[in-house]
Amino acid sequence: MRTPRFCILPVFVAGVFACQRELDLVARQSHRQPLAKRDQEWPPILDERETLLVNAFDSVSIDEWSNYYGHQNKLAGYGKEAAQWTADRWNENGVESHLKEYHVYFRYPVSASLDFTSSDGEVHPVNIKEPVLEEDDVTGYDAISQQTWLGYSPSGNVSAEYVYAGRGSIDDFEKLVELGIDIKGKIALIQYGGLFRGLKVKNAQDHGAIAAIIFTDPIGDGNITVANGYESYPDGPARNPNSVQKGSTLFLSTQPGDPTTPGYPSHEDAPRADFSDVIAKIPSLPVSYAAVEPLLQALDGHGVSGEEVNRTGWVGALDADYSTGPASGVKLSLDVVSREQIAPIHDVIGFINRTSSDETIIIGNHRDTWMVGGNGDPNSGSAILVELTRALNKLRQTGWQPKRNILIGSWDAEEWGLIGSVEWVEENANWLKETAVAYLNIDVAVSGPRPNLAATPELHKLATETLKKVIYPNFGSYNISLYDAWYEATGGIVEVLGSGSDYAGFLHNGISSFDTGSSGGPNDPIWHYHSNFDTYHWMSTFGDPGFHVHASQGQYLALVAYHLANDDVLPIDTQNYAVELRAYYDDLVTYAEEQGADLDLSELDKAIDYFKKNADAVKELEVRAIANNDEHLKTLVNHKYRDFQRGFVSQGGLPNREFYKHVATAPGLDTGYAAVTFPGVTEGIQYAENGNFSVAKEWVGRTSRGIVVAANILKP
Ligand SMILES: *[C@@H]1O[C@H](CO)[C@@H](O)[C@H](O)[C@H]1NC(C)=O
Ligand SMILES: *[C@@H]1O[C@H](CO)[C@@H](O)[C@H](O)[C@H]1NC(C)=O
Ligand SMILES: *[C@@H]1O[C@H](CO)[C@@H](O)[C@H](O)[C@H]1NC(C)=O
Ligand SMILES: *[C@@H]1O[C@H](CO)[C@@H](O)[C@H](O)[C@H]1NC(C)=O
Ligand SMILES: *[C@@H]1O[C@H](CO)[C@@H](O)[C@H](O)[C@H]1NC(C)=O
Ligand SMILES: *[C@@H]1O[C@H](CO)[C@@H](O)[C@H](O)[C@H]1NC(C)=O
Ligand SMILES: [Zn+2]
Repeated sequence: MRTPRFCILPVFVAGVFACQRELDLVARQSHRQPLAKRDQEWPPILDERETLLVNAFDSVSIDEWSNYYGHQNKLAGYGKEAAQWTADRWNENGVESHLKEYHVYFRYPVSASLDFTSSDGEVHPVNIKEPVLEEDDVTGYDAISQQTWLGYSPSGNVSAEYVYAGRGSIDDFEKLVELGIDIKGKIALIQYGGLFRGLKVKNAQDHGAIAAIIFTDPIGDGNITVANGYESYPDGPARNPNSVQKGSTLFLSTQPGDPTTPGYPSHEDAPRADFSDVIAKIPSLPVSYAAVEPLLQALDGHGVSGEEVNRTGWVGALDADYSTGPASGVKLSLDVVSREQIAPIHDVIGFINRTSSDETIIIGNHRDTWMVGGNGDPNSGSAILVELTRALNKLRQTGWQPKRNILIGSWDAEEWGLIGSVEWVEENANWLKETAVAYLNIDVAVSGPRPNLAATPELHKLATETLKKVIYPNFGSYNISLYDAWYEATGGIVEVLGSGSDYAGFLHNGISSFDTGSSGGPNDPIWHYHSNFDTYHWMSTFGDPGFHVHASQGQYLALVAYHLANDDVLPIDTQNYAVELRAYYDDLVTYAEEQGADLDLSELDKAIDYFKKNADAVKELEVRAIANNDEHLKTLVNHKYRDFQRGFVSQGGLPNREFYKHVATAPGLDTGYAAVTFPGVTEGIQYAENGNFSVAKEWVGRTSRGIVVAANILKP
């Protein structure tokens, strides 16, 4: 799982390729300044160790690791063998590694079926299975994970008329209410895209639906479609019409982690809490675009047409008018059987310890998948981490040792709700608070050739300057730095971290965080996200033949980690945090005005000024420490850089969601993936009832105090 950067619409905003979700985001983040094009010399000049690290990445061995992972059952609770294999490889490469077990609540699939009753009363079974492809051996594996289901769906057997509800956001459902379309007692038919799927199910449930069907629509596929004449996988780069997106339906924006152990680790004997508020009560199933087309067509001419609904993202690319329905007598019958179990999961934890250091760099990737493959999500990252341990070992064999501890995590059960990382963070929260400098995440390292990047502001400089040191592989017409490719793909904007991958547990404990990867653009082969077709065959044929994009992502991550672990003074730029806070502030002022929220933001304004003053002062201290080669002063500065983020953590958490504690950024309550800045205030405005802004007001104070605490940690 990760933020859906692969979500594709042929829309350009100021040269930036963006999907609708990103459009909303761009609009909200209008005060953030993009970086400039690269003007440094080319090719980049690397020092001896950087060169050794970069040259240590071998696309042939990455191919081998990818091939291994792509043929294992890694569904959470079933993946111990791949965990042990990972620990073995890391150990061989000098990273002392062991398995860490947690006991986690799951709902596994037993069986599922879907029937469609047309207006003439005839019943037709709907194909919910993904076909076995002769060209792709893995698609024929007999494993529990090759079934089609949605994680945490309860069992349910229901039959009812259905209503199309767009992408299933709160606003989509409110629009139905406004149009007088009653969804109570009906089944919601919802398009993938925009918000996290678990929130689509939540919104359906909150509006009285008794089940949810979520479908893939080719609107997300840009130019590479069957309609445009491309052959579909496995014959060509277009989406296989029968591909289905699986995934979790946990209410991610409220509470990730094991839903039965909020705030504490899932040990075998841990007390189990009530979870009814964080997972769905209604059953749900995912379907392909081929399967959904007749279901949409059956609503044509019933209810309100998609054009009249007039909401962005409502009308897709199938041959239907995306009417709301319902159509009298046109029904769906859904029969989902799932099985509850508390099952063991296994994180792999590897250490390179420096006994003298109280500073730790953490690098992580999840390993679990929804299918046997998973060569994009997440095992492109897993293959890279194995190669990264090899590269670090080569460097260490020259006598080099990192200044700081390096900890590497291979997380389990991320797909179900960031579970393996969240449980581990909960268990190690005190040690992390004392020593963690930064968490570097790599999830979908490769699902296409275009690099993407999200990070907390103090890491932007390190992250983007390092992009300039890596040569982008000769993919198509590109022969440029990773920075140039990233600039072209993003317009020079480093994304704000929301949720959707394992950094969330770290970030919301006040740890600098970073997330990298690469994905496809509108003219690249379609990656089958969370489908049985995310395989080694797809990756080696369409996604990254030769594994060169993998190698460049690995080189990039290795260089970022190397500088964090090695540099005398941490490459952390708190002055940029002040710049970003100011941009978030300006966005908030605009948003409050638009929403007619009469808020006094002066306390926040002053807090940001105070933060800036201290960031400037600590920078002066840094310059002095380096000029005088003063070890004592360097340590002092490093500790400030390590610790200042802890100040942003608001004890008790954001309104109604204790897990998310960061006052500057959090996933939107109704996005799940995409970030909202100053979430307490922004959502206090967004969800204010009858002009009652008391929550927003309270959070102006709390947010300001968090910023002041962070500033005081920086204060020389
Ligand atoms: C899609 O293809 C058309 C024709 O080849 C091209 O003009 C257009 O720019 C492409 N769209 C995108 C988003 O690249
Ligand atoms: C589901 O309900 C249908 C009737 O709507 C019934 O025929 C079928 O046996 C039920 N399935 C199960 C597993 O109970
Ligand atoms: C659709 O909504 C937009 C505003 O969101 C409005 O400007 C436009 O007139 C509407 N179109 C129709 C056909 O109602
Ligand atoms: C490395 O440090 C971790 C955390 O302090 C500790 O659990 C582990 O035993 C250490 N390993 C070695 C070899 O010192
Ligand atoms: C890419 O750059 C390398 C080194 O600068 C050069 O040898 C190669 O010919 C270039 N390839 C293309 C397609 O321009
Ligand atoms: C405004 O909302 C707060 C918090 O939800 C509540 O305590 C308060 O009574 C509300 N004020 C009014 C005037 O409704
Ligand atoms: Zn993932």
